[in-house]
Amino acid sequence: MAEAKRAHHQKTGDSFFYGDPAITAVLQAALRCSGEVDRAPLDRATHGFHSYPAGLHPDAAKMLVGLGEGPVLDPFCGGGTVLIEALLAGRSALGLDISPVATLVARARTVRTDETARTALRSRARAIAEHAKTVPLPRNVPEGADAWYNPGVIAELCAIRDGIAAEADKNTRELLRAVYSSILVKVSHRESDTANRKVEQSRAAGSTSILFHARAREYGRQLEALEAAIPPGELRARVHREDVREFRGKETFGMVVTSPPYPGVYDYLTMQQLRWMWLGIEPGSDSAELGSRRAFRLDRAAAVTRWRTDTLRWVRTVAKVLDPGGKMVVILGDGWVGNRSVESLPPLLEAAEASGLKVLAGCTAERWDEGSGGLRPEHALIFQK
Ligand SMILES: C[S@@+](CC[C@H](N)C(=O)[O-])C[C@H]1O[C@@H](n2cnc3c(N)ncnc32)[C@H](O)[C@@H]1O
Repeated sequence: MAEAKRAHHQKTGDSFFYGDPAITAVLQAALRCSGEVDRAPLDRATHGFHSYPAGLHPDAAKMLVGLGEGPVLDPFCGGGTVLIEALLAGRSALGLDISPVATLVARARTVRTDETARTALRSRARAIAEHAKTVPLPRNVPEGADAWYNPGVIAELCAIRDGIAAEADKNTRELLRAVYSSILVKVSHRESDTANRKVEQSRAAGSTSILFHARAREYGRQLEALEAAIPPGELRARVHREDVREFRGKETFGMVVTSPPYPGVYDYLTMQQLRWMWLGIEPGSDSAELGSRRAFRLDRAAAVTRWRTDTLRWVRTVAKVLDPGGKMVVILGDGWVGNRSVESLPPLLEAAEASGLKVLAGCTAERWDEGSGGLRPEHALIFQK
C-alpha cells in the first residue's frame, strides 16, 4: 500500500506556484515531503513519540520554520511537530490546541528534562509494569472499556493507571501519563487513531505492561536526543489548551507556522475517546472544533459558512500577535465531503487580506488522498504583516 501511495504521489506532478521563486521552492519541497512515506526523520528527537493524526512531516516543519525569524506560534499545534523544530532551530515557541490529547502530546514531545528526570521515568515505569504484570483484580474499570479491550488488557491498564496516579512527583507523573496515553490505541481493538473500525486482537498476559515499560525506555532515549539537539540556553516551548479564536495573548511572535484542520476531514476531538476514557479527560464542548467532519456531514452549507467565519476569526487573532514584518506560513488542504470537495484557499486568502497580511508566495500541489480515493489539492502559503 505504501509503495502504491508513493507511486501515485509521484505521478501527480501538478503544482501551481506564485510569488518569489526561492520561497516557492521551499514551500513546494515542504508539500512534497508531506507526501513521502520515508519515516526516517521521525527518529529525530521526540518526533516519533506518541501518534497524533495529520502531523506535519518533521522535515516540512523544519523548512517552514527556517522561512522566518524569532519566536514561533503554532495556533493549531496538534502533536507539536512545529514546536519541536522551533526548539531545534534555537527558537522559543508557543503552541495552542483545543484538544486535551494534542496538548498532552505536544507537551510530552517538547518537555525539557535532565538525566535525573529520565532515570525517574524509567525506574518508575519498570516498577509499575512489574506490578501490573501480575494482573491484579481490576478496579474502577471505565464505562465502555470492555467493548474495546480484552479483559486481561483492562486489568493491566487499570493497574498501570493506578500506579501512575500514586506517583508523588508531578513531573514524573506527567511523563508516565504520556507513555500510558501512547499505548492506549495500540492495545485496543481500534484499528488506529483515525480509523474507528474494530479489529479483534489477542494479547498475551503481561504484554501490555511490557509494552508500557518498553515505551518508557524509548521515550527516555528520545528525550535525551531532544536535549542533545537543542542549542544551549533557556529555550522552552509552552503549550496551552485554548480555542485559537478566543486567544488574547499579550506577547508577540516573529513567525506563525501552522497547519489548521482541513475542512470536513477529521473529528480531532471525538477520535480520542479511548484516551479520554482512560486518562479521565473531560473533553468539554466539541462545538469549538474547526472544520470537523461531523459538522460538514450534518449540514454542509452551514459548515461551509462557518468555515469562512472561523477562518477569518483565527487569522485575525493570529495577525494581531505577529510582529510587524513577521511571517505566517500555512499548510492547508481542501476537504472532501459527500463526494464533493470543499475549497479551503479562498477563505484563507480573504481572511489574510482582511487582517493586513499580504501573500509573499504560495504553492498548490495535488496529493493522493486515501479517504476520497482521488487527488486533493494541498496549499502552502506564506504571508507577511
Ligand atoms: C492538522 S492538526 C495539526 C497537526 C500539527 N501540525 C502536527 O504536526 O501535529 C489540526 C489541529 O487543530 C486543532 N483545532 C481544531 N479546532 C481548534 C480551535 N478552535 N482552536 C485550536 N485548535 C484547534 C485540532 O485539535 C488539531 O489538533
